[in-house]
Amino acid sequence: MKPKVYIARPISQEVEEYIGEHCDYRKWEGEGRIPLDILMEEIKDVEGVLVQHAPVTDKLLEGAPNLKVISNSAVGYDSFDLEAMKRHKVLGTHTPFVLDETVADLVFSLVLATARRVPELNNFVKQGKWDKETESHDLFGIDVHHATMGIIGMGRIGEKIVRRARLGFEMDVLYNSRTPKPELEEKYGIVYSELETLLEKSDFVVLIVPLTPETHHLMGEKQFEKMKNSAIFINCARGAVVDERALIQALETGQIRGAGLDVFEQEPVSPDNPLLQMEQVVALPHIGSATEKTRAAMAMKAAENLVAGVTGKNPPDVVKE
Ligand code: DGY
Repeated sequence: MKPKVYIARPISQEVEEYIGEHCDYRKWEGEGRIPLDILMEEIKDVEGVLVQHAPVTDKLLEGAPNLKVISNSAVGYDSFDLEAMKRHKVLGTHTPFVLDETVADLVFSLVLATARRVPELNNFVKQGKWDKETESHDLFGIDVHHATMGIIGMGRIGEKIVRRARLGFEMDVLYNSRTPKPELEEKYGIVYSELETLLEKSDFVVLIVPLTPETHHLMGEKQFEKMKNSAIFINCARGAVVDERALIQALETGQIRGAGLDVFEQEPVSPDNPLLQMEQVVALPHIGSATEKTRAAMAMKAAENLVAGVTGKNPPDVVKE
């Protein structure tokens, strides 16, 4: 008999067929994200579930006594209660490596879009405001090439950002991370820096750390105060790594020049969030890894982890505690 699994997010035919070869499966076929009560009902009798960012809590695990593996089709797993998973002997897996270049591309999309005011000036042209008189200082942006970028977090994605910054844009790069990376310093000429110094010196501050209890609100009022008034803040990590009220204040008071945000403390972001009213903010709907090719690769990786976890093999991408 094949093990039972539940697929809680849309996947391609190819990935579904792969899961079907090894498992009996049911899947979520409703619109949008699966509601939590339905997910809990559906996983009562399964051994594995494929999710994307679903909150895994003690309560959810209590209701699913057969569960062996929860496969997250994402690299970040802040949605997992790791302690509870350990207690319930449920493995968590994620999808590292396959999205690194794609997320690094998005970081640069936000860097360029904020620095050169791309969405704002796109609206300006489309609204018919471009006339002969308007090639004025009002339209100017700031340079990305040869500027200083400070990267907070130097994991796999951080390294891809460094390559773009150093080789493509000839930027100076400072970085801060839990452990210094001498091999990257050697390879790319980047410099480890205390957070305070990084904030003081950077023209672009890029946040790319996982959300953990230690990184929650890592960027708050004090940190924004250290940044240059001309600097731009980019967040492609998780919304809650930033105290959003402090960010709003830093933007409103001109403490910093602008922000490029793929993530928010509350997602989907509320239309009333003041960040959305600001010209100097470029906002995206958490799409760091969302290209067709990368999302397909993530789904296949998530399926491989799921199948391994329910067929007695070691899943390749078990999350670290
Ligand atoms: C991830 O994989 O964690 C990204 O945030 C995309 O979901």
